Amino acid sequence: MTLWNLGSINADHVYAVPHIPAPGETLAATGLSRGLGGKGANMSVAMARAGGRVAHLGAVGADGGWMLERLEGYGVDCAHVQRHDGPSGHAIITVDAAAENAITIWPGANREIDPEAVKRALERAERGDLFVTQNETSLQVEAAAQAHAQGLTVAYAAAPFDADAVRAVLPHLDLLVLNEIEAQQLAQALGQPVEALPVPNVVVTLGAKGCDWIETASGARHHVDAPRVEAVDTTGAGDTFTGYLLAGLSQGLAMPEALARATRAAALKVGRHGAADAIPTLEEVERAAL
Ligand code: RIB
Ligand code: NA
Repeated sequence: MTLWNLGSINADHVYAVPHIPAPGETLAATGLSRGLGGKGANMSVAMARAGGRVAHLGAVGADGGWMLERLEGYGVDCAHVQRHDGPSGHAIITVDAAAENAITIWPGANREIDPEAVKRALERAERGDLFVTQNETSLQVEAAAQAHAQGLTVAYAAAPFDADAVRAVLPHLDLLVLNEIEAQQLAQALGQPVEALPVPNVVVTLGAKGCDWIETASGARHHVDAPRVEAVDTTGAGDTFTGYLLAGLSQGLAMPEALARATRAAALKVGRHGAADAIPTLEEVERAAL
């Protein structure tokens, strides 16, 4: 089974800072690095590192060759990633000594994906494949609707959060992944608890506290604890979690096992600097003494 991911690809410029700058403050960084990021690319790398077969849908700009090479190096099929003339997406990320971050994104090519090309690429998907998307590209709703109509399992990570975007994609979803704050925002925007969403499975990530999985048909809520780790950089931890979760499901793991593996993978990522490049392999996840 193939995991189809319509997702952003960003060059992450990461500044290590003593604290996140306050409005009006000028601050010297203590470190600077560039790496592969974007919530979409991070998820594709996580799914591939977990052993999934991944086809990425998206776009990079003229400056994006190194990002495609890196994605392919991690085993992600980039045959359907478009090359544009303009700039690639990028992110300015400040990470402080307490592992907190602040992220500013320039979407670039991520918001200029050709709809016809995505449509044609997705037509190659097979019933039973899995489709996932997030909120850093265009075309989420169209692509999710097409995937759903073609009989794919459709998952959505509601990040960065936008209530209208979630509302539009909801009717096509089998699985929704949100963090605690996003779950509160969504409940408020819709005027109903996430337990009442018309999506069979809702997973709420709780950071160091693990995650909750809600089966909305019965209302059953299952909790999975996360291992305790020393956090150095939480960037991409949510993406690692979702990617590992979906790869696990594609490999036939039951939800509790897939969730347990995903929380371990995210915990390992939090102990490392960087986004896509810091996502652990399945072997590392299984071997780690967490
Ligand atoms: O979720 C982390 C990601 O958000 C970073 O890699 C950055 O590119 C932004 O998209
Ligand atoms: Na994240």
